[in-house]
Amino acid sequence: MVIRVENLIKKYDERTALDGLNFTVEDGDIYGFLGPNGAGKTTTIRILTGIIRADSGQVIIEGHDVFREIMEVKRLVNALPESNGYYEWMTAYEYIEFFSNLYEEKKSKQGILKLLDDVGLNGKEGHLIRSFSRGMKQRLGIARALINRPKLLFLDEPTNGLDPKGRRDIHDLLIDLNQKQGTTIFLSTHLLDDVERLCNRIAILNYGKIVRAGDLREMKGKGTIEDIFFLSTKEGAQ
Ligand SMILES: Nc1ncnc2c1ncn2[C@@H]1O[C@H](COP(=O)(O)OP(=O)(O)OP(=O)(O)O)[C@@H](O)[C@H]1O
Ligand SMILES: [Mg+2]
Repeated sequence: MVIRVENLIKKYDERTALDGLNFTVEDGDIYGFLGPNGAGKTTTIRILTGIIRADSGQVIIEGHDVFREIMEVKRLVNALPESNGYYEWMTAYEYIEFFSNLYEEKKSKQGILKLLDDVGLNGKEGHLIRSFSRGMKQRLGIARALINRPKLLFLDEPTNGLDPKGRRDIHDLLIDLNQKQGTTIFLSTHLLDDVERLCNRIAILNYGKIVRAGDLREMKGKGTIEDIFFLSTKEGAQ
């Protein structure tokens, strides 16, 4: 088991964002975390990656308690946040070099070029980020998240705002990463197309609670994912 979340609760002032969240993610999963706007997807990812703290509950990642052993967890995971900032005046190469210098183990020139190549940015290393399309920026963000070779990668709506070709490219990249490097992927999305192409297991979140979870193929036996999604998020818990 890579992630175990138990009874996670998070309030922002009076507003309950997570209302007793429970789920597990297994090694090698591409786990789809679905839910409408405001369901609590980003909040969950921020707690699981140690950016913010929960009010109560427990998160265990690869045997480490996220609230007590965050440094161990940070070695094993990385994330592409919901709104990633890019230093537009840097080249793709400089951007990856900059972030790789923040780690103990710095990357060689070859290592940086390999990483850019892995995400399909070969030949673009000397280009300014300013000139990149949204899809290219997303790839660069994923390259940044791969600097420490994470066992577990969190992606918060990685295909948001991309055209069909851009989405397809990100899908292929993630499938490759999962199959060739064995990276476990936790992906938040509200695009059912992402889920169909990528995920083996999903959870549907609504008002900070999981309303449906399970194996995608088993769930699809009971109706289309679209039907399941709309039926299970039609009525909120609040
Ligand atoms: N920093 C914050 N301060 C106050 N309320 C917040 C904060 N961040 C999130 N919330 C609230 O918590 C709830 C969950 O928000 P969250 O961003 O986790 O949802 P989400 O599922 O990621 O939504 P989206 O699909 O729009 O990205 C929402 O009601 C939101 O308004
Ligand atoms: Mg979000």
